[in-house]
Amino acid sequence: MKPALNTASGSLRVEALAKHFGGLKVFDGISFTVPPGEVLGVIGPNGAGKTTLINVMCGMLAPTSGRVVLGDHDITGKSFHAISQLGVVRSFQQTNTFRSASVEENLFRAERFSAARRGPDLGLPALLEEFGLARHLHEPSDKLPYGLQKMLGLVMVLAVRPRFLLLDEPVAGLERRERTQLDRFVEHAREKLGCGVLIVEHDMELVRRLCPQIVVLEAGRLLASGAPDEVLSRRDVIDAYLGATEEE
Ligand SMILES: Nc1ncnc2c1ncn2[C@@H]1O[C@H](COP(=O)(O)OP(=O)(O)OP(=O)(O)O)[C@@H](O)[C@H]1O
Ligand SMILES: [Mg+2]
Repeated sequence: MKPALNTASGSLRVEALAKHFGGLKVFDGISFTVPPGEVLGVIGPNGAGKTTLINVMCGMLAPTSGRVVLGDHDITGKSFHAISQLGVVRSFQQTNTFRSASVEENLFRAERFSAARRGPDLGLPALLEEFGLARHLHEPSDKLPYGLQKMLGLVMVLAVRPRFLLLDEPVAGLERRERTQLDRFVEHAREKLGCGVLIVEHDMELVRRLCPQIVVLEAGRLLASGAPDEVLSRRDVIDAYLGATEEE
C-alpha cells in the first residue's frame, strides 16, 4: 500500500482545524490528509477529541476555525446531509440503526439516501451473508445481538456509496473473534468503491493490521503521525496513551 499522508487530489483533508466548547479547546490547529482509497487510523486517549473530530468532519458540528476540504471543495460548515451526499459518511461509536425498523428497512433507508449517486455494484448481499445478517433481514434491528447491530451499521454506511468513511470505534463492544470482520469490511469498501477510510479505534492490534498510517490526537494537538510500528513505539505516545489503554 502507498504511504497515506501525502496530499493527493480527491483526498479528504483537515487544515488547521480547531474546535472549542466555550473555554475547552478540544483540538486546535490540526491538519492531516486521508488520500482516496487509503486507510488512516486516528488514536488518542479517552476524551482526546476523536469523536468531536469526526463530528466536525461530517458536518454535525461547525469548527471554531480551520477547514475541511474534499478534493477541490471546501466543505467546512456544510450540513451533515450535504456532506453525506458529497460522499463523506460516518458511523457512530454506538450503533447507528433505526431501532425498531427491520434490517431490510434499515438498508433500504440507507440506499435511498444515495439515490443521486449511482455506481458500481456494492456486493451487499455477499457482505450480509458474510456478516451473518442475511438470515435476519425481517427482524427489528434492535432485537439483534449487539455485534450484528454494529455490523449492520457498517453495511448501512456502505450502502450510502461513500467516497470516504469515518468510522468511530467500529469494533467497540465486539468480541475479539468478531473484530476481524472489520478487516473484510474495509477491504470490501476499498475494493468496491475505492473508498478512503478514517478509523478511530482503541484496539491497537486492529490499528496495526488495518492502518498503514496513523495520527495520535492528544491534549488538543497531533502528537505524532506515521507508520504504526514507528509511532506506537515512541516514548511520548506510550506515556500519553498506550500505557493506559493497550490492555483494553
Ligand atoms: N457538545 C459538547 N459540549 C461540550 N463539551 C463536549 C461536547 N462534546 C464533547 N465534549 C468534550 O470534548 C472532549 C472530547 O470528547 P470526545 O467525545 O470527542 O473524545 P473522544 O476522543 O472521542 O473520547 P473516547 O475515546 O472516550 O470516545 C471531552 O472533554 C468532552 O467532554
Ligand atoms: Mg469517542
